[in-house]
Amino acid sequence: MALGDFLQQLDGLASDAEAAFTAAADTEQLEAARVEFLGAKSGRLKATQKQMGAVDKTDKPAAGKRLNETKQRVDAAFQAAQQRVAAGEQVRRSSSQFVDTSLPGVRPELGHLHPITQTIEELKDIMGRLGFSVADGPEIEDERHNFEALNIPLAHPARDPLENFYLATAEKTSADVLLLRSQTSTVQIRVMEQTPPPIRIISLGRVYRPDTADATHYPMFFQMEGLWVDKHVTMADLKTVLRLFATSYLGRDVHVRFRPSFFPFTEPSVEADMSWGDKWIEFGGAGMVDPNVLSAVGYDPEEVSGFAFGLGIERLCMRRHGITDIREFYRNDVRFLHQF
Ligand code: DAH
Repeated sequence: MALGDFLQQLDGLASDAEAAFTAAADTEQLEAARVEFLGAKSGRLKATQKQMGAVDKTDKPAAGKRLNETKQRVDAAFQAAQQRVAAGEQVRRSSSQFVDTSLPGVRPELGHLHPITQTIEELKDIMGRLGFSVADGPEIEDERHNFEALNIPLAHPARDPLENFYLATAEKTSADVLLLRSQTSTVQIRVMEQTPPPIRIISLGRVYRPDTADATHYPMFFQMEGLWVDKHVTMADLKTVLRLFATSYLGRDVHVRFRPSFFPFTEPSVEADMSWGDKWIEFGGAGMVDPNVLSAVGYDPEEVSGFAFGLGIERLCMRRHGITDIREFYRNDVRFLHQF
C-alpha cells in the first residue's frame, strides 16, 4: 500500500473520531463511539493499524509515526468528550432540584409550644396581672417540704408509700428520704423559708403520683400553686382572686363557689368549683394557710395571714379546649398537638 493512502486513512479516521466524540451527548453515545474507534477487538484504529503490514518497508517509520500521532489525537478527543459528558450529567442531575417557581409552594413545617406550655404561659400572664410573681422549686423533694412543714404528720395516709414515688436512697435516715413531689405546695414552704412576708407568688410545675393512667389521671401532671401572705389577707381575697382568674382564663362570666373541705395545710379549707354553662366543675383546692404552716417557716401567725390554692393545669386546659382524655397531652401524636 502506498504511504500516501495509508496516511490519508489515518487522517480520515482521526477526524471521524473527533467528530463522533464531539457529537456524543451522553455516556451511552460516547461509549458507542469509543467502541467504534478505540475498541480493542474491532475498533477502526485497530483495523487501520493492521494495514501497517501492507505498507512498504521503507515507508514504515513515517507510517508508524503518523499512526502514533493519530492514536494520541483520538485519545485526546475521547478524554475531552468524557470530561464534557460527565460535567453535563452533573448539571442535569442538579437541575432536577431547581425550584420550579410556577409550582404551588410547599409550606415549611413550623413547630410550636406544647398546649400545656401554652397554658402555663397564659396562666402566668393572668396571675402576673394580679400581682403574683413566679417561683420555682425542685421536682425531687424531701419529706420536710412535701409533708412535714405542710402539717402532714408521719402517720398521715398521704405519706403512704403506695401514694408516692419515694426514691431508693442508700441511707434511710429521715433527712435523706427523697421523693418526687406529689404537690406544688412544697414551693410555698421553700419560698416562705427564704423570704419574709409579704408574699404573693404562683408556682407551676410537674407533680407525681403513682396513679394508673386513664382519661382523667396520669402519674405525672401539672399544678399551679398560689400563695398570698400579708397582714389582713382574708377568704374574701381568695375568692376574688380565683374569680378574676377563672373569668380571665375562660373569657366569660364564670362564677366561683366554695365547698367546705379539708387539707392539712389550710384551715379552713375549701374545694373551689366554677360554673361551666349550667354545670359546676371542680377546679382545685384552697384555703387559709394553717397557722402551723406559718409557724413552721418562722412566720408569726398572729401577725400575718394568707391564703393558698392548688389547681390542676391539664384540667383547665382540657376544659378550655374540650379535650376529654388527659393522656392525649403525653402521647406526642402530632395530629393532636397540631391543633393548638
Ligand atoms: N396540694 C393539694 C393537692 O395536691 C392542692 C391544694 C389544696 C393546694 C389546697 C393548696 C391548698 O395550696 O390550699 O391536692
